Amino acid sequence: MNDFHYKNGTLHCEDLALSTIAKKVGTPFFAYSHANLLRQIHAYQEAFSAVPHLIAFAVKANSNIAVLRLFGREGGGADIVSGGELHRALVAGIDPKRIVFAGVGKTTAEMKDALKAGILMFNIESAQELAALDACAKSLQMIAPVALRVNPNVNAQTHPYISTGLKKSKFGIEITQAASQYYIAMGLSNIKIVGIHSHIGSQLTQISPFVDTLTRVYELIKALRLEDVCIDHWDIGGGLGIVYNDEQPPSQKEIANALLPLLKKSGCQIILEPGRSMVGNAGTLVTRVIYTKKGEAKNFVVVDAGMNDLSRPSLYQAYHEIRPVVEKERIQEVVDVVGPICESGDFLAQDRKLGQVEADELLAVMSAGAYAFSMSSNYNSRPRPPEVLVRGKEFEVIRKRETLEDLLRGEQIPGYLQEGDLSL
Ligand code: LLP
Repeated sequence: MNDFHYKNGTLHCEDLALSTIAKKVGTPFFAYSHANLLRQIHAYQEAFSAVPHLIAFAVKANSNIAVLRLFGREGGGADIVSGGELHRALVAGIDPKRIVFAGVGKTTAEMKDALKAGILMFNIESAQELAALDACAKSLQMIAPVALRVNPNVNAQTHPYISTGLKKSKFGIEITQAASQYYIAMGLSNIKIVGIHSHIGSQLTQISPFVDTLTRVYELIKALRLEDVCIDHWDIGGGLGIVYNDEQPPSQKEIANALLPLLKKSGCQIILEPGRSMVGNAGTLVTRVIYTKKGEAKNFVVVDAGMNDLSRPSLYQAYHEIRPVVEKERIQEVVDVVGPICESGDFLAQDRKLGQVEADELLAVMSAGAYAFSMSSNYNSRPRPPEVLVRGKEFEVIRKRETLEDLLRGEQIPGYLQEGDLSL
């Protein structure tokens, strides 16, 4: 199923030409396909239907409340890592009993908010955090439901920045120390152990790291059960990769088939925390060519989206396919597609073979539904682009373009710097 395709020579999202959206909202903008989003959550639900499961979407991948709402309405939950994400999930109407809270640095304020909201469980990443949560829960006279995030020391075979399951990583409790932490947790009056969690990295394209991890975690579950530690919820994390270029990630079904025997044996409710694979290929960033610039060493296509809008190419040398919105015969050339930001690292593509484009043309940067808008910034004082949700031949703005006023929100000039104040 292709939600982005050429029709009558123009790139469409579902049944709507991206050029039509550009006319209405200007550029740059993010567009997401409703059908694609739905299909992803359904694919997960179907693939794991043989076990009781919860698809807790990793909010960090795309935090727009319309996207969260859509998944929530389909029975999905949320994997959050901050008080801000908790707020978004609740505003989007996600049932707190479908929210899991991970992250190495939860503050007591965040813990208290999540306790009061009544979330499903806290994925605890260290001994100190466990003690802090116990104290928070005590102060509220509540019991905190807990899973420990164990670090299985498995190589996720992905980019080092997004690999999280190795010993040297800051995440989780080393699997060798997990049992003793569970026994400590059992002794804490305001902690209730409900599960176990692991997440080893992102953009995984192999099945084996998942299998290796879960095999290790299952051994631990069995050992814990012998000691009467109650593990009912098994959160197997996220991490499934998507196709940006020529990757061949397994499908949800293939992953499920490899994992289901273990998962079934556990008798647990299975929680998944997919982010990228739920939204990545549902989105595009549409940008307009401002100038083309021929240099002695390189040719540049200067566009109106930059690293502040989509930071993945600069941060991780990530590849995002770029397609001209108008399809026609073009001479191929090798170019750098760069943004307007004053940094050499501001590129969307480098040394990319692309059909020749002219100023004013539209380009679609593909696979921009995950870790794109959610990682955007206002660097160079650039208002962030709007996000739109396309459904059939209609679209709705789900986040407005920021204005100049938005840029200044919260800033103030001290009285002594105000005009006419000469008291210094
Ligand atoms: N669960 C936990 C605890 C996580 O830390 C993450 C992602 C996920 C789930 C979702 O993983 P996913 O299914 O999306 O792979 N900014 C990077 C990716 C960072 C991933 C961080 N953690 C990128 O743009 O590639």
